[in-house]
Amino acid sequence: MKNGLGVAQSIVLFGGTSDIGQAIVSDLLRPGVAHVVLVSRNIEEADRFGQDITQRYPDIDVHHVRFDGQDAAAMTRVVQEVVSLVADIDVVIVAQALLGDGIDFLQNPHEAIPLATVNFTATMTLLLALGHQVNQQGYGRIVLLSSVAGERVRRSNAVYGATKAGIDAFALALDHELSSGGGSILVVRPGFVTSKMTTGMQKAPFSATPAAVAKSVARAIDSNARIIWTPSILRWVFMVFRHLPTALWRRMPF
Ligand SMILES: NC(=O)c1ccc[n+]([C@@H]2O[C@H](COP(=O)([O-])OP(=O)(O)OC[C@H]3O[C@@H](n4cnc5c(N)ncnc54)[C@H](OP(=O)(O)O)[C@@H]3O)[C@@H](O)[C@H]2O)c1
Repeated sequence: MKNGLGVAQSIVLFGGTSDIGQAIVSDLLRPGVAHVVLVSRNIEEADRFGQDITQRYPDIDVHHVRFDGQDAAAMTRVVQEVVSLVADIDVVIVAQALLGDGIDFLQNPHEAIPLATVNFTATMTLLLALGHQVNQQGYGRIVLLSSVAGERVRRSNAVYGATKAGIDAFALALDHELSSGGGSILVVRPGFVTSKMTTGMQKAPFSATPAAVAKSVARAIDSNARIIWTPSILRWVFMVFRHLPTALWRRMPF
């Protein structure tokens, strides 16, 4: 529950080691926040960030929950474990995903399975479990890290882009479903972000830092926004891309 000053008291990050996720949490930290829960598969790694939070805000309780982002069937239990630690969830950021850069999926179709499972199937069951929780609370903001890659899927990252297109569409529909109960979902569509996920890759135009994405997200959490693009110019760039004739789109160099 937000306190009298409108500060979210419990913040949960799925993908507790995500560079963008951690930047968003950092931006949301302030006096009055009571709990941060880092949900990750590598608690030791997530705890580096946990210790950083404790150093900056000794009054905030940092909790860890372990999860496997591929285990779609476990998401209800994981959300229940989080709730047992914090009672209500004010803001939850869903950041776990796999990019699959450099994989030849045509030669190795089975390599698509973990991407589809982590980015789509298990994220879908997680959003449903979180949706049920915010419905019961009567409030709560769910932040889904989607991607511009899902707006019009490119041949060079077809598997990743398709998973993002699917989860993005699902989250927007779920947001409609939750709105009558007081909860909401914010879908975030970043472009290229310099993070662990993109290490070693050539920067794309309009690339951003995790801190810049976090600033836009923190602002949007406090608004009624349902979708944001980071940076915002990508909204217009992809509006054009979406409507390019196929013959032209096929000739694009990506
Ligand atoms: N970076 C970009 O250019 C970009 C652009 C658009 C959208 N996004 C989206 O933003 C989100 C965060 O990405 P990021 O840039 O912060 O990348 P990141 O630092 O690589 O974060 C990805 C997170 O996913 C977690 N993860 C992957 N597989 C998992 C599994 N099976 N179980 C549990 N956790 C798992 C990783 O955990 P480990 O640390 O344990 O591997 C890590 O916490 C993702 O949804 C991504 O698709 C990123």
